[in-house]
Amino acid sequence: MRIHPIWNQYPHMQRDLNDVLRVIEKNIKIRDKKVEKNIKELIHAGGKLLRPAYTLLCSHIGPHYEREQAISVASALEVLHMATLIHDDIIDDADTRRGQETIQSKYGKNYAVYTGDYLFCVCFKILAQHSQSLAALEFNTKSMEKILAGELAQLNTRYHIDKTVRQYLSQVSGKTAQLFAVSCYSGAAISKASSSQQKTAWRIGHNMGMAFQIIDDVLDYSSSSEDFGKPVLNDV
Ligand code: IPE
Ligand code: IPE
Ligand code: MG
Ligand code: MG
Repeated sequence: MRIHPIWNQYPHMQRDLNDVLRVIEKNIKIRDKKVEKNIKELIHAGGKLLRPAYTLLCSHIGPHYEREQAISVASALEVLHMATLIHDDIIDDADTRRGQETIQSKYGKNYAVYTGDYLFCVCFKILAQHSQSLAALEFNTKSMEKILAGELAQLNTRYHIDKTVRQYLSQVSGKTAQLFAVSCYSGAAISKASSSQQKTAWRIGHNMGMAFQIIDDVLDYSSSSEDFGKPVLNDV
């Protein structure tokens, strides 16, 4: 499997991320072969795999490195991310994602809603395979609530030119930074890092997520859809 070139200099990470994609693939089994094919194409469309990579990196913070568990939780978080992307493309009416046509553009919004929902289920299916990840499971449901609250807040203030910086940052925290925070925190928690280290991992992830979304929003304005692999001037 081809992993995004940002990881070219990190063979260990490439190997682990390959296993992440393998776990995800193994868990995608759905009677509707059209949906299955589309999800598999999205898996291999060259996402950067940042969230699982952060889980894997942070799974070395504490004294107990548990590779299999780290790979599973990392896979579940990437699947959760993919589900939010599919739903986000419906809301944004986007026709491309990771350089290829979106599910909603190809098959319609109804189809895409169910495909995203299916991936939410797959996320919990993967987490449930590791009973030790129950803490991560609880965190994920809380985090999903925050992601959805962020998306809703964004929807409610759409086209409001008087949106404040504070409101903007709070939406970014919900819709993007939460998932980065959970990714780092889960890795640290799996490795049995101290509770202060786990909190630090959470904060690192949250800050990176904030920065990441702000840069994504700048690129939405300043980049081209060919370079970006998704439509631009969508989030202005
Ligand atoms: C896209 O995330 C959604 C945002 C939070 C901006 P990524 O840029 O990490 O998407 P992929 O997974 O690499 O396609
Ligand atoms: C981020 O918002 C979406 C999620 C966190 C799901 P955007 O609308 O900016 O994401 P892109 O630019 O479509 O990837
Ligand atoms: Mg979007
Ligand atoms: Mg964007």
